[in-house]
Amino acid sequence: MAGLIGTVTLNLALDVTYEVDELQVGGSHRVDRIRRRAGGKGVNVARVAAALGHQVLVLGFVGGVTGELVAEELFDAGLTALLTPIAGETRRTVAIVNDVDGDATIFNEAGPTVSADEWRAFLDRMPWGRMGVLACSGSLPPGLPPDAYAELAVRARHHDVLSVIDTGGDALKAAARAGAVVRANASELRAAVGEVVEVEEGASELVALGASAAVITDGPRGMVAASKKGVWRALPVETVSGNPTGAGDACTAVVAAAVAESPEPDWSVVLKSAVAASAAAVLTPVAGDIDLPAYRRWQPQVVVN
Ligand SMILES: Nc1ncnc2c1ncn2[C@@H]1O[C@H](COP(=O)(O)OP(=O)(O)OP(=O)(O)O)[C@@H](O)[C@H]1O
Ligand SMILES: [Mg+2]
Repeated sequence: MAGLIGTVTLNLALDVTYEVDELQVGGSHRVDRIRRRAGGKGVNVARVAAALGHQVLVLGFVGGVTGELVAEELFDAGLTALLTPIAGETRRTVAIVNDVDGDATIFNEAGPTVSADEWRAFLDRMPWGRMGVLACSGSLPPGLPPDAYAELAVRARHHDVLSVIDTGGDALKAAARAGAVVRANASELRAAVGEVVEVEEGASELVALGASAAVITDGPRGMVAASKKGVWRALPVETVSGNPTGAGDACTAVVAAAVAESPEPDWSVVLKSAVAASAAAVLTPVAGDIDLPAYRRWQPQVVVN
């Protein structure tokens, strides 16, 4: 058994979607439909990994009434979670979707402050022995050290667990130095290593810093993987229209599952699945969902160079 895919979401949220006829700034609106879902990039990763048949463990902080709703929704979705309680109230994100053009107007709360004691409690209860991989993604809540992901990666290594870290900027470089498999999109990569000419070059730079591999998504241009053994680019079978939010998280889910099976997977094979899963995630309107029949149809057709 490959062990659990632990997904870390340090800034869990309750994603609330309101559907209204027409959105008017300053107006009063009747809300026709309300949806509530646990959210945060790590939760998207967990949902996709679970949909692909892997055992996942959602890790994060919860506080207050909103935290209870997040825990309940994770349970209802069949996702096993190990949640560390905090004094602050879990954040909400509110998306207001109007029926006129279907566009969403989004409000993201910053999230509660996490204290040093709460962070230590989170680190101390990590079930390392049961984990095959630790996947960390998304923003940090106020109060946590900026190198929180690198610290997790270092602790994971002490327990022989490899981590996959999806982030940008200096945190991305710190994760690379900590020996993690690093994940970012092209603009997050450029924010970290400068305006590199090619994504391939930037990915290799992260490997040179110490990353065990770098997998960089490049929108409809597909994605690039680099390791000490080489650099590969894979292209989507077709460009699909839909909701690209969460497509990168689908890639992270596939990468994490591959790393849980083997610390040094064949990246050309992983990319085929990652590209197919990401495109299948674009097809679905909600981040964290994936169109499984489309995934299965595209996976064998992806071309890797
Ligand atoms: N229109 C599209 N058609 C097919 N595949 C797509 C399309 N857009 C994105 N993808 C696939 O999804 C992957 C991830 O996209 P992108 O680089 O936009 O990720 P991201 O910005 O990290 O997304 P997020 O963080 O919101 O999950 C791409 O590498 C690509 O393979
Ligand atoms: Mg991303």
